[in-house]
Amino acid sequence: MPTNDVLLEVKDLVKHFPVAKHRNQQEKAVVKAVDSVSFNVHKGEILGIVGESGSGKSTVAKLVMQLLEPDEGQILFHGNDIFKESRKERIETKKQVQMVFQDPYSSLNPRMTAKEIVTEALIIHKKIAKKEVDNKALELLEEVGLGKQHLNRYPHQFSGGQRQRLSIARALSLKPDLIVCDEAVSALDVSIQAQILDLLKQLQKTYGIAFIFIAHGLPAVKQISDRIAIMYKGKIVEMASSDEIFDAPKHTYTKKLIDAIPPSHPKYRKDRMVRED
Ligand SMILES: Nc1ncnc2c1ncn2[C@@H]1O[C@H](COP(=O)(O)OP(=O)(O)OP(=O)(O)O)[C@@H](O)[C@H]1O
Ligand SMILES: [Mg+2]
Repeated sequence: MPTNDVLLEVKDLVKHFPVAKHRNQQEKAVVKAVDSVSFNVHKGEILGIVGESGSGKSTVAKLVMQLLEPDEGQILFHGNDIFKESRKERIETKKQVQMVFQDPYSSLNPRMTAKEIVTEALIIHKKIAKKEVDNKALELLEEVGLGKQHLNRYPHQFSGGQRQRLSIARALSLKPDLIVCDEAVSALDVSIQAQILDLLKQLQKTYGIAFIFIAHGLPAVKQISDRIAIMYKGKIVEMASSDEIFDAPKHTYTKKLIDAIPPSHPKYRKDRMVRED
């Protein structure tokens, strides 16, 4: 792809966390949460990041979201180093990069209605007038498969899948170029997962939104991603197209991840059949 198609460039990113050191230890002990990670996300691309618990996925997400500062390395968004931007530029970047978390219960304010949740950012950034709020809220809810009947409901009045749709509608409100989904479907049943993945894919196609889609396991990531990065102990050990990762995994850890998929998983069965043909 030509370089001007690059939306996000992550270069040699390092983030270490100090850990309590043992009395006898001389050196400072650290967890190398992110240990020289580099990758690009192209405009409108879905990049999957897979790795076991503690491999550094959420730390990468938090760095991209500017919730953490890196020890070393750079993140360029539309070619600008996000950690060198002025306060005003940072606010603009933050609007263009949105996040969907695993647990919408803790990320959605329980005292706000769906209407308030999806229009909050628009009101804060003065993007809509008061009289437009109802229409805009409905438009956003419909975008994610919810409707008029949901406008005045509170988060606890939604099912898990619907709550995740609500989080996605909120993320969409400022028309971002990139949405980071950190384990966004991990807590949902496989059938509901598939519906949410379809929705994300549809948003990618319709609006050209790029996604970083993080998960523990390969099946969900394979279903949605154009490319997949495999993380292991703070490093990306392999990165390739979705098909290549499955058909010709190179790293031992990637092979382990593929072997860990239960044979009963529908995605796996289909892939096996294709391969055996
Ligand atoms: N704020 C912090 N302080 C200290 N250590 C941290 C902090 N955040 C993360 N870590 C450590 O960094 C490593 C990577 O954590 P991270 O949350 O990025 O992993 P992950 O791949 O998202 O894991 P999971 O799949 O369980 O969500 C872990 O060893 C974690 O304990
Ligand atoms: Mg995590």
